[in-house]
Amino acid sequence: MSDTIQKYKDYVMTGFVKQVVPVVVDHARGAVVTDVNGREYVDCFAGISVVNAGHNNPQVIAAAKAQMDKLVHCGSYIYYAQPVADLAERLATIAPHGLTKTFFGNGGAEAIEGALKLARLYTGKHEFISLHASFHGRSWGALSVTGNQGRKKRGGPYASGVAFAPAPYVYRSQWHNDAEECGRQCANAIDDVIRFATSGDVAAFIAEPVMGEGGILVPPHNYFKEVKKVLDRHGILFIADEVQSGFGRTGRMFAIEHYEVVPDILVTAKGIADGFPLSAFTTRPEIAAAFKPGDHLSTFGGNPVSCAAALANIEFMEKEKLPERAAETGTYAMGKLRELQRQHPLIGDVRGLGLMIGVELVRDKDLTPANTEAEAIRDGLLDEGVLVGVGGVYGNVVRFQPPLVITQQQIDRAIEAFASVLHEVDHALVV
Ligand SMILES: Cc1ncc(COP(=O)(O)O)c(C=O)c1O
Repeated sequence: MSDTIQKYKDYVMTGFVKQVVPVVVDHARGAVVTDVNGREYVDCFAGISVVNAGHNNPQVIAAAKAQMDKLVHCGSYIYYAQPVADLAERLATIAPHGLTKTFFGNGGAEAIEGALKLARLYTGKHEFISLHASFHGRSWGALSVTGNQGRKKRGGPYASGVAFAPAPYVYRSQWHNDAEECGRQCANAIDDVIRFATSGDVAAFIAEPVMGEGGILVPPHNYFKEVKKVLDRHGILFIADEVQSGFGRTGRMFAIEHYEVVPDILVTAKGIADGFPLSAFTTRPEIAAAFKPGDHLSTFGGNPVSCAAALANIEFMEKEKLPERAAETGTYAMGKLRELQRQHPLIGDVRGLGLMIGVELVRDKDLTPANTEAEAIRDGLLDEGVLVGVGGVYGNVVRFQPPLVITQQQIDRAIEAFASVLHEVDHALVV
């Protein structure tokens, strides 16, 4: 056993994951990860959907190094730091219209907590509505608005004042042949949730524009427009959790742009700085003004190195048209995966936007989740030199979320490997 794996066993807490994938990563570039033995893997998971501009993107690294030589940390809310100012200005130009003021934190959950707090301060209301199958992070407030027992178990009871509405999970809904109807029905259900499951004191509705951990669930095109009508009738804010779907991943800079709806608060992390820890929430000035002295802060939030990396990351994305590239590569990959679906009944659904792609595996026509098969495919792909994720509320969705710089050849290689592993798993099922 390698020294690193032994030290993990002895000194690192890992009891909360079934296993750490047995790869000791040494270095990575673009969409290729190399382990300590020199073995290369095509990375279709991007560090859980983080390194959108590619591993160790030279421009991002150069910007971070230059900043490191000048200043690493001095407290970005105690003193002024130029990369923080420059990044906030940049975000104001790429965020949906009117969202111009940003708070910086370190990780997704921290940004969600801040957004929830700000929504309450601005509205003077206290409750939240979230979705079944949602995931918003591991801190207590974020888990309180998370709609997935798999993530919440052993941590309850959670905060009161949170009500859940059905997720627009088209494939498993009674409207699986009519996505638009699914969108309309799920949006209208929010009205009932407000009426029957809250006291009417709702500050905000929180949702992921494409649901990641829930199984790459893409809401129908009319869903958020219909939701917005309901929210506006009740004076409820919309918090878009773009922690996973943001920064080019879905083929637009932010996934909510596909739905032509402007949220009140946009929460981002993961892809914001190509691997450097940083998160943000961005909102309209009048909402931001609800913060008064003492209400909020973060010691490491807005780290100058992370902010400098984020600026270079956004510049790279725009110069290389990464969102457009993700849209094209994603369409290509989904086309190939749908060809495989026609040959393998194990593939129940192929869905996604851009390079946020989920392949849901089922055992039969009743859609019994094929979760052990999904894990077997992930392990088989590892042997073939391809990294993917497995997720979904039933643990049966293979997740393809590679760096957006992945080439067509690398996609071909990953999908060929997927086809061959799928064949083996299918065969083992029949035998
Ligand atoms: C949609 C969404 N929100 C929030 C989070 C939490 O982010 P973090 O793990 O950086 O706290 C995640 C993480 O996967 C996520 O996918």
